[in-house]
Amino acid sequence: MGLFNNRNKVNNHEAVPVWFMRQAGRYHQHYQNLKKDHTFSELCKTPKLACEVTMGPINEFGFDAAILFSDLLFPLEQLNLGLSYETGRPEIEYKLQDKENFERLKQVTSSEQFYTFQKEACELLKKELPENKTLIGFIGSPFTLFTYGMEGSHTGQLRETKKALYTGEYQKFCDILLPCLVDEAIMQLKGGADTIAIFDTAAGELCFKDFKKFLLPFLKTLTKEIKAFQNDCKIIYYSKYTHLYYLEAIEDDNIDVLGVDWRNDIVNVVKTLGKNYYIQGNIDPIWLHLPNEILLKNLEEYLTELKRGEIDFSKYIAGLGHGVTIQTPEKNVHDTVHYIQNNFLY
Ligand code: CP3
Repeated sequence: MGLFNNRNKVNNHEAVPVWFMRQAGRYHQHYQNLKKDHTFSELCKTPKLACEVTMGPINEFGFDAAILFSDLLFPLEQLNLGLSYETGRPEIEYKLQDKENFERLKQVTSSEQFYTFQKEACELLKKELPENKTLIGFIGSPFTLFTYGMEGSHTGQLRETKKALYTGEYQKFCDILLPCLVDEAIMQLKGGADTIAIFDTAAGELCFKDFKKFLLPFLKTLTKEIKAFQNDCKIIYYSKYTHLYYLEAIEDDNIDVLGVDWRNDIVNVVKTLGKNYYIQGNIDPIWLHLPNEILLKNLEEYLTELKRGEIDFSKYIAGLGHGVTIQTPEKNVHDTVHYIQNNFLY
């Protein structure tokens, strides 16, 4: 597995591996070409197409890991809330902020049937990927899915979402959601995924107390159940807007990798938490919009900081502090990957 063991060697040194969230997507001409003939949902739900989209950035830029092309909101469709991507952004038809929609919450399709498209896409990917590239499956975290279920997005004040933590509605939702999320991860693992990433884009919207009290317990149940199915799979947990003390509070032995937001000092995070986890991140995605020479200078300085901090590179995975954004120049993606692979050596 390229991210963890069997890392690449350059001039007799080990090389830090690199992958990006959203490495397949709208900035990429390969994706835009497929979008001319297919909707986003078709690309996700047709295993052959999902495999082709996933492989685009591997073939073109040489990332060390492939991340299944899919979306984290599909469990909301399975739970009868109505999901569409017709406008380009996800739309939830029956938002839970209308309380009567809680009545709708039930698995309308069995997980075995519902997540077959993800399992089959993983099977195809496993055949295409070279041995030294890791296949990453992914799911949403219970809290981030709750914010989407309540409000249709994770931006804004999240007033209804935060109030519902205290009414029992969040617990009710999670009790129904959790088995679906575990099944979704299991289907991807059965298809051959090596690693499951849990994306928690909304996590840092919570105050520290609510993060510990409400978010962490369901997260821990989720990671425990995934590991109970397959103990040797690796679990990546990415959270956005979370400070170092949030990351320190996670204390979950079932999490192997912490994905770190760009606002954190990466040296400090690796030094503080590198004993317990691999640390992944945390280049600001907007650096990839800078003129190429400024980007490369920033990467050089970023590397200098890592070296000066004497971090343990064997516990470090390079990546972005969030996902690749639309209109990122492809050359900058290419050059960032290659700069890391050739210079982040130890
Ligand atoms: O390459 C990869 O990383 C895999 C692809 C991937 C997508 N979504 C494809 C996608 C991944 C890992 C996701 C995760 C995801 N989806 C998250 C968590 C990570 C994050 O971005 O914070 C969230 C919150 C979603 C929900 C979602 N899906 C949103 C907010 C949107 C709107 C578009 C956007 O980019 O913000 C989507 C649609 C979506 N998911 C697109 C892609 C490529 C764009 C669809 C299009 O072509 O129009």
